Amino acid sequence: MSQKTWGGRFEEDPDKAALDFSQSVDFDKRLAVQDIRGSIAHARMLSAQGILEAADVERIVEGLQAVAAEIEAGRFAWDHSKEDVHMNIESALIERIGDAGARLHTGRSRNDQVATDMRLWTREACHRSAGLIDQLLCVLLVRAGQTVEVLMPGYTHLQRAQPVRLAHHILAWCAMLGRDRTRLLDAARRMNRSPLGSGALAGTTFPLDREATALELGFDGITENSLDAVADRDFLVETVAALVNCSIHLSRISEELVLWSSQEFGFVRMSDAFTTGSSMMPQKKNPDMAELVRGKTGRVVGDLMNLVVMLKGLPLTYNRDMQEDKPPVFDAFDTVDACLQILAGSLGGASFDKARMEAALGQGFLDATELADYLSARGVPFRHAHHVAGRLVKRALDQNKTLSELDLATLQAEDPNFAEDVYAALDMEAAVERRDLPGGPARARVHAAIASLREELEARGQDVDAIAARFGAVQAGGGAP
Ligand code: ARG
Repeated sequence: MSQKTWGGRFEEDPDKAALDFSQSVDFDKRLAVQDIRGSIAHARMLSAQGILEAADVERIVEGLQAVAAEIEAGRFAWDHSKEDVHMNIESALIERIGDAGARLHTGRSRNDQVATDMRLWTREACHRSAGLIDQLLCVLLVRAGQTVEVLMPGYTHLQRAQPVRLAHHILAWCAMLGRDRTRLLDAARRMNRSPLGSGALAGTTFPLDREATALELGFDGITENSLDAVADRDFLVETVAALVNCSIHLSRISEELVLWSSQEFGFVRMSDAFTTGSSMMPQKKNPDMAELVRGKTGRVVGDLMNLVVMLKGLPLTYNRDMQEDKPPVFDAFDTVDACLQILAGSLGGASFDKARMEAALGQGFLDATELADYLSARGVPFRHAHHVAGRLVKRALDQNKTLSELDLATLQAEDPNFAEDVYAALDMEAAVERRDLPGGPARARVHAAIASLREELEARGQDVDAIAARFGAVQAGGGAP
């Protein structure tokens, strides 16, 4: 950067190392589209307010559009010595149109400019990620539709606990992701205020029309306090925190895929397209994509730490530290977006092993709660019934039997309330069907949950079946689970 950039008070050129250290154009050039959009809105408002002449503003808008086209075509020469995206674009404009370009920055500072750019960029990114979550939801919804009749163990402590439907498990993933989506959209809504007109920190002496630029840029209104407007980055913190939540969900889903695709579980086979082999062991088929999604969560958590520690202790208002907000925000979005797409492919192409899942129900006394509930429904206090069922589990273990293999005399020896119909209660399908409350795994409840999620997605304009098919998931009847 030459002294000209910073004006009259500088006599020496900046140190080369200092320049390389402080430039941000390498990463903030991603804000170019938003920066130009913001500048055009600002320029038009300056003209409407009589602050700039209409002819100048016409030249500015045309010039900015030409610069935008150059950037889009990849022909723009980004220059470290111009420090950041704002100065690069402004000086390209001045080079093109001369003095008119030099008037663009009237009543504006890079501080309100960068705050505006980041809000515009992040707002868009939130909507993009929310769309990718919807895409994954479409895949999961179709997979749920195919697996209502697949029973599997539900787990607590990673111990087999009670039988559920695979579809119910998949719908739990949907519930997690549904919250992530709304958290991102909430953040997008809260950040949707225009900082333009806050200047460097204390507004400006020019009679800007803040509402006009806000409206033009699709903001819901303007920020309230000029000091806060240039210093606030909590909109980024809450956005990246929402991404962290999403990333942790994707990691937990991935962990289940890793477990389920092991020999030990054998619940799922990942498609060849989303697995890898071993360079040494010819038999291996590794769930690398799921492992990487799990692993990349560390990056996203790191991005959040990066951001919050950078902000902690900064006095009002703008401090140059805040330039460092961009890499973690960009990285968190890039990482989560990629994970969302990879999981859509992984889950679309995976095949679930109904036989293995149902076989797993046979061991682990998943019907012990049924015994307790059976007695309790016949008047035995639940705590007592729980105790009786526990003793029967112990007996079955000792005799190397399942609970339904114990004869009635054995059951009655523990409690006389047992009758022949207890064996029907131990049936896994019956056990699931009795769990017939809203939010539960009974068939009708699961079908209702599927229908309501489909309605929700379609109301948002998602073509559920077409999207799922793109990722290899075909509606029930159209293929094996
Ligand atoms: N590149 C800077 C950033 O991203 C722009 C704002 C610079 N403001 C300043 N007063 N140096 O934060």
